Amino acid sequence: MEKVYGVIGEPIKHSLSPFIHNQAFTNDNISARYHAFLVKKQNLGKAVEGMKVLGFSGCNVTIPHKEEILPFLDEVDELARKIGAVNTVVRKEDSFIGYNTDGIGFVRGLREAIPEEKLEDRSILIIGAGGAAKAIYYTLLSDGFRVVDIANRSLNRAKELQSNCLLLASQSSKALTMKEAEALVGQYDILIQTTSVGMSPNVDESPLSLVEVKEGAHVFDIIYNPFQTKFLSLAEEKGCTIHNGIDMFIYQAAYAFQIWTGRWPNTENMKKLVIEQLGG
Ligand code: ATR
Repeated sequence: MEKVYGVIGEPIKHSLSPFIHNQAFTNDNISARYHAFLVKKQNLGKAVEGMKVLGFSGCNVTIPHKEEILPFLDEVDELARKIGAVNTVVRKEDSFIGYNTDGIGFVRGLREAIPEEKLEDRSILIIGAGGAAKAIYYTLLSDGFRVVDIANRSLNRAKELQSNCLLLASQSSKALTMKEAEALVGQYDILIQTTSVGMSPNVDESPLSLVEVKEGAHVFDIIYNPFQTKFLSLAEEKGCTIHNGIDMFIYQAAYAFQIWTGRWPNTENMKKLVIEQLGG
């Protein structure tokens, strides 16, 4: 029987996940379909129960349900539990098990973009302290990175994120205000922009001016619409190497696909499709 997967969230109509997963199922001759479902906050528990009784094989979870879904699942993988958010659910017999592939998706793209042996020794500044920042921060620390500082508009949220992760964080990891980050940005080899600032339609906004950024630094923005945010343009003007959020999006999907099917999809095909869907 054809397997059923989906993505639940609100809003959901612009999700590109159905395109890439359905293409991957077709390419790999897997009898499965993937659909997008608009699920309101108050209906999350019913939606999970519904997917379970209807025999769904798994799903992706997006804004605003990534954190709220945890209590509705039968099991949550250790990294997802530490992050406190789930973006991928898989059925194992009659149980639903939650994973988080956002952080590992980002780190795979990072390692591919900078193929250095001792990448863990590079100093990193994460901008933002929300859900996406948290997934990336925990995954970087679990992966052996040692200097990972966080700058956020609300300093408390950055501090909280670090104190929840003290065992992993190096003693030197710092929480910074945006103003402090403006002054200290030149110290970092890698910047990772995780806030929604600069996302379409607010394409003229940037969380930092990057006046002091180090020439040759690698600057990532997890936004992929627009392809090049204002933040990335400012970095490019300063001689940095820039990377948008498409790889993170593709790789979080690829890891989800692997959890569901045991196979690694053709990520080049996924990337082509995403770029095409976003208007080239
Ligand atoms: P997500 O799950 O997508 O990461 P989130 O948890 O709502 O979303 O977090 C959004 C992040 O973007 C936060 O770091 C937020 O800063 P605050 O913690 O101070 O709210 C940041 N952010 C959103 N709008 C911002 C703005 N206009 N300027 C600076 N930071 C902003």
